[in-house]
Amino acid sequence: MSSVHFAPVRRLRGVVTPPADKSISHRAALLGAMAVEPLRVRNYLVAEDTLSTLAAVAQLGALVTRDGTGVTIRGTGLRGASPCDETIDVGNAGTLMRLLPGWLAGQDGRSYRFDGDDSIRRRPIDRIAEPLRLMGAGIDATDGRLPPFTVTGSRLTAIDYELPVASAQVKSCVLLAGLTAKGITTVIEPEPSRDHTERMLVAAGVTVTRAGDRVSVTGADELALDHELVVPADPSSAAFWLAAASIVAGSRITVEGTTSNWTRTGFLRILDRMGGAVVGEFERPQRDGEVVAAEPIGPVDVASSPLTGTTVTADEVPLAIDELPLVALLGCFAEGETVVTGAEELRFKESDRIATVVDGLNGLGGDLEATGDGFVVRGTGGLRGGAIDSHGDHRLAMLGAIAGIASREGVTVNGMDAAAVSYPGFLDDLTTLTT
Ligand code: S3P
Repeated sequence: MSSVHFAPVRRLRGVVTPPADKSISHRAALLGAMAVEPLRVRNYLVAEDTLSTLAAVAQLGALVTRDGTGVTIRGTGLRGASPCDETIDVGNAGTLMRLLPGWLAGQDGRSYRFDGDDSIRRRPIDRIAEPLRLMGAGIDATDGRLPPFTVTGSRLTAIDYELPVASAQVKSCVLLAGLTAKGITTVIEPEPSRDHTERMLVAAGVTVTRAGDRVSVTGADELALDHELVVPADPSSAAFWLAAASIVAGSRITVEGTTSNWTRTGFLRILDRMGGAVVGEFERPQRDGEVVAAEPIGPVDVASSPLTGTTVTADEVPLAIDELPLVALLGCFAEGETVVTGAEELRFKESDRIATVVDGLNGLGGDLEATGDGFVVRGTGGLRGGAIDSHGDHRLAMLGAIAGIASREGVTVNGMDAAAVSYPGFLDDLTTLTT
């Protein structure tokens, strides 16, 4: 386990392009595997999570070739995933574990076994098991709800499914299953969540519509993908630099290449409300009707500024779910109280992020309290520093690093190697922005 010390820095300056988007990369590999025509994915994320997805689709019969600028996937067709005796190892990737079963549920008569690392074995899959069973697939999980688990495919029936929690992973799983089902499958979302699957399916010629909180997909014969897809940079990776530049005095940075998709920019709206000096053009929410396929891209400028506490409500949570640890960090530097509610989902991430964030930042001199569905942060204007454990969670490792460069005494992060799950070049970009 690697320990890295992050000393306080004078300021952040410069322009950074974060790595490719993790959510879009996972989906690109899966859709490429489901298509018959070859798909070229430029700027595919080369990180542990998304390499697990390439390995998984290769196991299912897709031909995957990587080169300096991306990856080419020659798929098997929508109903042609190869039978596979060996367990599919998702590593640490929850998105892979929840999306891929959606496709495999429609492979009539074939069974696929899934497993992953220690963190994955603690993450529930009942949320995808329920709708997939309703559609006709067989799911056999450990203790009824955990990996390792087996998916047995069948001829699926379209359903209307109301999500018990707002989750893009569960929504995507049901939509992917809907592709091989006869008829129209509808997912009802309690709150909007990231919509990359919908956009990419539209780009693949599938009929996807939105009406209020209902997203519907019509079953298809095959996907008709464009031959090339370019993955934008990841706003969740960008958020580390945006938070850092907001709280280290004298900073000013530009982040380039990230998607400004409304369903991914919740953190920017929260930062803006806290008094952050954020400038950028952000997409408006898509309205009812046909889903627009393109991912908008735009630069974001941020400078340091005094922050004040805010309240994050349940409707904002899915739009900033992976950035909520950074909201806690901003709260430590803000004046007044920052409250996050409706975020129980954080307990089921790569670590229990309510516990690990609250304990981790308290250990650095913060004043945070965990609640049932979020946390309360009493801002003290800064953090002392100390040591924090990543618990093998990539976002916690990078949170510790940003806390360190903004702290008074520096922070040692134990388990910094976890960052490679989504951001292998994190330390290089940190050096670029701080020297
Ligand atoms: C993701 C959805 C979110 C997010 C995860 C990636 C996706 O999870 O936390 O990192 O790519 O669909 P939930 O859908 O479980 O909220």
